[in-house]
Amino acid sequence: MSERRIIALTGASGVEYALRFLWQLSQVDGESDIIVSKNFYTVLGEESRTPLSPREDRVNPTSLLREVESRFGASGSAHRFTFFENSDIAARSASGSAAYKAMVVLPCSMKTVASIAAGLSQNLIERAADVCIKERRPLVLCLRETPLSTIHLRNMLALSEVGVTILPLMPGYYHRPQSLEALYDFMVDRVFQHIGISKRVTTPWRENLD
Ligand SMILES: Cc1cc2nc3c(=O)[nH]c(=O)nc-3n(C[C@H](O)[C@H](O)[C@H](O)COP(=O)(O)O)c2cc1C
Repeated sequence: MSERRIIALTGASGVEYALRFLWQLSQVDGESDIIVSKNFYTVLGEESRTPLSPREDRVNPTSLLREVESRFGASGSAHRFTFFENSDIAARSASGSAAYKAMVVLPCSMKTVASIAAGLSQNLIERAADVCIKERRPLVLCLRETPLSTIHLRNMLALSEVGVTILPLMPGYYHRPQSLEALYDFMVDRVFQHIGISKRVTTPWRENLD
């Protein structure tokens, strides 16, 4: 089976989860297609810790990876990232004939949840997700919103019923995180488990006891 995955970033709050995920993924053998929505960059601009350079400057892979490294240090070189425009609906992930192991949307906005649930396929992220569902491949949506409306909940239920994994960005606290990175890593591990990556970046529950 292909070791290639699809990683999509959309405009929900919590961009740091995505940046940390990419940083951890860079240290795992494999290959990923990366698709970033324009609204991800908008939220990134709002959530950046440091004064922003012009926003356009960030709308490209180089500036995204620079943002990852500015927060977490040098990326690994084990993973091959290939970036695709979200408008490129002729990209390989738009076709069921291209093999992928899994797809994750992290963070996933409620707008993207709704579009996937409705099967709209209006951009590459939505189309690739639609393809995953029809080809019965693992699709993981790491959504973030609060509170959740009945519409949000209905969309999530519809997706869950066709086999999509609804994996909200809701870290546990039972591992006693001492830093924000520890909270992000909790989510990284849960996503890794669901997209078939065996590496763990935190200690699984009870495995650190004698
Ligand atoms: C600063 C900021 C934070 C946002 N946070 C969320 C959020 O947590 N969840 C959500 O569903 N939408 C959020 N939105 C709204 C989405 O960005 C908006 O619905 C957008 O259309 C999503 O498009 P996309 O899914 O194509 O990226 C936020 C927008 C901004 C500007």
